[in-house]
Amino acid sequence: MSDAKRVDTVRLQNIAMGFWESSALMSGIELGLFTAISNGAGTDIELASALNITPLNAERLVTVCMAMNLVTKPQGRFENAADVERFLVEGKPGYAGPWMLFTKPRWDKFGKLSDYLRNKDEAVLGQYDGLTVEAARRMHQATSSIGMGAGRRFVRQVDLSNRTKILDLGGGSGAYSINAAKEHEHINAVVFDLPPVAVVAREYIVEHDVGDQVEAIGGDFTKDDLPTDCDVAIMASNLPLYSRPIIAKVIQRAFDALLPGGEMHLIGETLDNDLSGPIGPALWGMAEAINGSTGLAHTEADCLSYFEKAGFTNIDVHEFVAGTLSRITGTKPA
Ligand SMILES: C[S@@+](CC[C@H](N)C(=O)[O-])C[C@H]1O[C@@H](n2cnc3c(N)ncnc32)[C@H](O)[C@@H]1O
Repeated sequence: MSDAKRVDTVRLQNIAMGFWESSALMSGIELGLFTAISNGAGTDIELASALNITPLNAERLVTVCMAMNLVTKPQGRFENAADVERFLVEGKPGYAGPWMLFTKPRWDKFGKLSDYLRNKDEAVLGQYDGLTVEAARRMHQATSSIGMGAGRRFVRQVDLSNRTKILDLGGGSGAYSINAAKEHEHINAVVFDLPPVAVVAREYIVEHDVGDQVEAIGGDFTKDDLPTDCDVAIMASNLPLYSRPIIAKVIQRAFDALLPGGEMHLIGETLDNDLSGPIGPALWGMAEAINGSTGLAHTEADCLSYFEKAGFTNIDVHEFVAGTLSRITGTKPA
């Protein structure tokens, strides 16, 4: 007998059926399974009644959720895992259900991924081409449900006490700018995003009552004039949307627009330099084949080189959300 570890098909089968797992998680959110458990539904019968489905289907769904370690049954009654309890219970401050469902509209397209991978056309704006205000509003309901937490994290990590104005490139709902304004009454910010998104950003600015500090300007950061009175530039969660030359150009444009002595923060899903993962950035990069853009996953080394070529100094990489997001920073010489 050889000592070599025998291989089997289990890992491959689990990956092949991964979309069944996604659909169970998404159905759990849509049907309110995790909210019902948090509210005390502890058995199949109680869940069935709370979700208005049959006990058989309640058992089927919750069994998969237990196998995925989303739900446990320690005392003979269902309980949510800690992350589920914090992020998937509707009505709780951390509720991120809309973000977990953000990719679902692409469901059918992912079923045709091979066709998209055979496509040889590329467009600069990809999914954002022809974006309407209505579509932008739907998209940013999801991004704000996760972005507000990221914005709070940014404000906790970065000292803005000596800064005056933020340029929030592709700022979406304005989550980062809104949090900075709430934390520091001396800080102003401009959310610079595509015109339909700027309309939506203004709605969030009003909702959070920061209109005296934060404004939104509609424009394309790859080609339109950027404000030149900012000493902080943030670009968050845009990285896989564009090719290496385009991201390099946008970083250069941000450098040119910043005031001398200003700082830039690029927050994005970066790949390890040997391209071995993590899976999240790799998947976001692949999804750009479906969006028909030039985008792909960028490595940490790619990002450092964009900053160096633009002229930034004190360039550094910081962990932003472990295993998911890095924050690359640089300073424009005074
Ligand atoms: C995933 S969202 C991130 C929003 C926000 N930064 C956050 O982290 O919550 C990406 C944003 O980039 C914007 N964007 C993409 N390409 C852009 C461009 N060329 N010019 C301006 N904004 C752009 C999109 O409209 C969208 O609002």
